[in-house]
Amino acid sequence: MRMSRYFLPVLKETPREAQIVSHRLMLQAGLIKQASAGIYSWLPMGYKILRRIEQIVHEEQAKAGHLAMLMPTIQSADLWRESGRYDAYGDEMLRIKDRGGRDMLFTPTAEELVTDIFRAHVNSYKDLPLTLYQIQWKFRDETRPRFGVMRGREFLMKDGYNFDLTQEDALHAYNRHLVTYLRTYERMGLQAIPMRADSGPIGGEDTHEFLVLAETGESEVFYDSQITDLTFGDRDIDFTDKAACAAVLEEFTSRYARTDETHDEAVFAQVPEERRRTARGIEVGQIFYFGTKYSDAMGATVQGPDGKSVPVHMGSHGIGVSRLLGAIIEASHDDKGIIWPEGVTPFHVGIVNLRQGDGETDAACEDLYAKLKARGLDPLYDDRDERAGAKFGTMDLIGLPWRITVGPRGLKSGVVELTSRRTGESEEIAPEEAIARIAAIYDGI
Ligand SMILES: Nc1ncnc2c1ncn2[C@@H]1O[C@H](COP(=O)(O)OP(=O)(O)OP(=O)(O)O)[C@@H](O)[C@H]1O
Ligand SMILES: [Mg+2]
Repeated sequence: MRMSRYFLPVLKETPREAQIVSHRLMLQAGLIKQASAGIYSWLPMGYKILRRIEQIVHEEQAKAGHLAMLMPTIQSADLWRESGRYDAYGDEMLRIKDRGGRDMLFTPTAEELVTDIFRAHVNSYKDLPLTLYQIQWKFRDETRPRFGVMRGREFLMKDGYNFDLTQEDALHAYNRHLVTYLRTYERMGLQAIPMRADSGPIGGEDTHEFLVLAETGESEVFYDSQITDLTFGDRDIDFTDKAACAAVLEEFTSRYARTDETHDEAVFAQVPEERRRTARGIEVGQIFYFGTKYSDAMGATVQGPDGKSVPVHMGSHGIGVSRLLGAIIEASHDDKGIIWPEGVTPFHVGIVNLRQGDGETDAACEDLYAKLKARGLDPLYDDRDERAGAKFGTMDLIGLPWRITVGPRGLKSGVVELTSRRTGESEEIAPEEAIARIAAIYDGI
């Protein structure tokens, strides 16, 4: 992409409505524009990052054998009456009437609809286990939409639903989700800590929230500092291996880590004092096992091996896809702007031409741009007729993790400058070497 052809409406002033850094930077970098309270348009670069996050979610779900699908945003109230949630959900649910006077709603979550699909098509235990998920817009009429995409009214969520014959199988599905989530967040450059949580309107007993530590987080969290030493990394895990998945759950949840909702001072006091931490966190996901709550209410049963009809055991599992943009920025920025982790960056590398219009410099930039693209990389070339300072300012604000700077002086000695956005360190190297370095950095990401 060439900056001169891109739509990147960078703001010069600090937007006054932004109370936290991620909201400010998303507006300033031209990623989003508010349409109305808690509802946003995603401008090209913001949308690109959103798609990148979705792609990581899809890849990790596929590894566990979970199946992607798509359900409608507008749903009939009838199904929600069956589960009893039409009345229970309260003012957060956006209720709509169609022209025939039928009660409809904008989906805040989709347990009812997916259970309806299941009961229509699945009759035998032989079709289990089954996990269906979608990445779809949700609407919750939050009392206080704020912090940009962090607490929107319309927001993008990955929601997955498992159907299993027994509690044991459903808990295995729960553990599988925990494993996929750990990997998903790490690929986005985040440490998200699973914490014991409260189930809220979804209902159920087993539930963990995933929290990213950040001062601006809305939850107060209490944890044993040992938990922040854990990383999942690149482990190859067999998702059909129940013991292996259970071991990961044990490893990541056996130390004290709870939100304010489930915090227990007496239990916390058993953690050695020097390891006790109190902080704030952003909830980026949650997993639930809720047994037969919906299958009982909605008659979602299968015939077991003994021929008897039994309600299926279910769970649901969510990732705050649009909230993640804010969470990543909260965790990764400096006073100059965003610093995207390589896993989610909208462009792999920025090219800054220090002397636009100078024949040789332009040619060197074009050559770099073409060669990076030929290697399957996605560069953003700042080809605008702007001062070097303005170009650097834009690159720092939008936060591409790598920058190649090309100027007449360097070209005389056959070098360009490769700069890390994170460390600010620069190296003068031959253009070919810069290309090879960028290719190596993104190899396998
Ligand atoms: N209003 C919102 N704006 C953006 N993302 C949201 C919002 N509400 C929930 N999410 C994201 O969707 C995920 C799954 O939804 P879930 O039903 O667990 O939300 P929740 O527990 O009600 O969230 P919260 O406690 O923050 O209101 C959450 O972990 C969060 O990351
Ligand atoms: Mg939640």
